[in-house]
Amino acid sequence: MKKIKYVLLVLGAYACNIPANETGLITEKAMVVSAHPLASQVGSAILKQGGNAIDAAIATQFALAVVYPVAGNIGGGGFMVIRMSDGSVNTLDFREKAPMSSSETMYLDSANNVIENLSTRGHLASGVPGSVEGMVKAYENFGTISWVELIQPAIDLALNGFPLTEREANGLNSNQKNFSTYNTLAPDFLIRDWKAGDTIRWIDLGHTLERIRDNGRAGFYEGETAALIVEEMQRGNGIMTLEDLKNYDAQWRTPIIGSYEGLKVISMSPPSSGGIALMQLLKSVEGRELGDHNSTQALHLMTEAERRVYADRATHLGDADYYNVPVEELLDSAYNMGRMSDFSTTAKTHSDSLAAGVFALAESEQTTHFSIVDPFGNAVSVTTTLNGGYGSKVVVAGAGFLMNNEMDDFSIKPGFPNYYGLVGGRANAIEPGKRMLSSMTPTILEKDNQLFMVVGTPGGSTIITSVFQTILNVLEHDMTMQQAVSAGRVHHQWKPDKIFYQEGAISKDDSLSLVKLGHELQQRGPYGKVDAILVLPDGKLEGGADPRGDDAAVGY
Ligand code: DON
Repeated sequence: MKKIKYVLLVLGAYACNIPANETGLITEKAMVVSAHPLASQVGSAILKQGGNAIDAAIATQFALAVVYPVAGNIGGGGFMVIRMSDGSVNTLDFREKAPMSSSETMYLDSANNVIENLSTRGHLASGVPGSVEGMVKAYENFGTISWVELIQPAIDLALNGFPLTEREANGLNSNQKNFSTYNTLAPDFLIRDWKAGDTIRWIDLGHTLERIRDNGRAGFYEGETAALIVEEMQRGNGIMTLEDLKNYDAQWRTPIIGSYEGLKVISMSPPSSGGIALMQLLKSVEGRELGDHNSTQALHLMTEAERRVYADRATHLGDADYYNVPVEELLDSAYNMGRMSDFSTTAKTHSDSLAAGVFALAESEQTTHFSIVDPFGNAVSVTTTLNGGYGSKVVVAGAGFLMNNEMDDFSIKPGFPNYYGLVGGRANAIEPGKRMLSSMTPTILEKDNQLFMVVGTPGGSTIITSVFQTILNVLEHDMTMQQAVSAGRVHHQWKPDKIFYQEGAISKDDSLSLVKLGHELQQRGPYGKVDAILVLPDGKLEGGADPRGDDAAVGY
């Protein structure tokens, strides 16, 4: 739990009140909502130049790698969900992979105990990055304007510099010690007392981006950049090799598609748990009376659904290339209704008395999200991450970017809680080349065969429940997109058996009623930064940019 608090602190202070009648930016044609105003501007400018949503996503991703280093990245990975205006859907997995010489016990000492911080900080914490290959694959299939045009804005931001926001200045300042401790060659350009408005330049990163601009995939996974990554790893006793980098592959996956109250829900398949878990949650509450927003009735029902779904997640979900994930069984409506058959309106279920569902087949803070709609009606939902804030804290010397600490998303020991308190077992055990299980839930909703919503968020284990709540806020509680994003959030993840809530999210009376039902409640700092777009009945777009961060909607 200490770890969860740490992640939440990184997100800064924010009290969760929903201003009445609050609407986000409304535009006629196109919009980008991301974690940083400069990145949203870059994406929107690409759309104005005639690029499509995928072009804009690539430009936004590279811009975030510069202006939002806490999570934006080229040293991490993520997922992209695409819905084209003709209704076709594609999902791209550019999640990191375990290096080939990784092993199930690599974070354990000789007594089988977890070695503190080894999977979260420093050189051993990184999986092989997927973001650059992801952008290249997305471009090869869907890009319409020149690759150079998509990367140049990020290069300009890196080389010319840009003003830090207060949050980013604070984030860098509070990591000074980490940057010195976990780097073999201290990144002096980062270790300073930053103030809001100071100009920061990422010169080495700018040159790395130039190599990616000029050589595409090879500009990162081969040649100078790859050599710099491997030299960095060797200096810090990491295990990533040139082979690992060269062999990295992003994959087009079969999307998770389901329905809720007649709407089509399109989301990410394993190695993310997000799409499956979101669908399970929606199926578990569909047709039941929710009651008012964040009322006892709503929160009790949602908590009981979350408890069951996260128990399934811990047992059944992992990289489907390595583990037989029972996807169809988990998505089955009858299965999810069955899981809720012992739901009681008068008492909670105890997590210790609840295990994952059993199937005949069973054996066989920091992330960032952006949502884009282009003037042609195409939509892209991307969540990408370094995992923790500034990832492993390791800056690749000479290449100027931060590496992820995604290896901690594996179950590094059965039952041992990861950074987000999530537990897992064999399905998500470390194996060479395997992708670690994710909670990222980039999602697109369709209503009457038309684009309806683009949504997603960071927040580790809370991602799934934040997306779940945002969707319900719009569909069941008639909120605007912005209200749905701003609304106070509540979260349960099976273990620990507690309802976590943001300040102001639950009234005193409802808290007391929930305690009477047997629930334990714990207040947390703010979490999640949902960035979403809603298509309004008149076809205009409404952005929801999370006020918990510097997030911004830009469009026209
Ligand atoms: O893939 C995952 O589920 C995590 N690595 C996401 C981390 C995250 O959202 C951190 N943000 N606060």
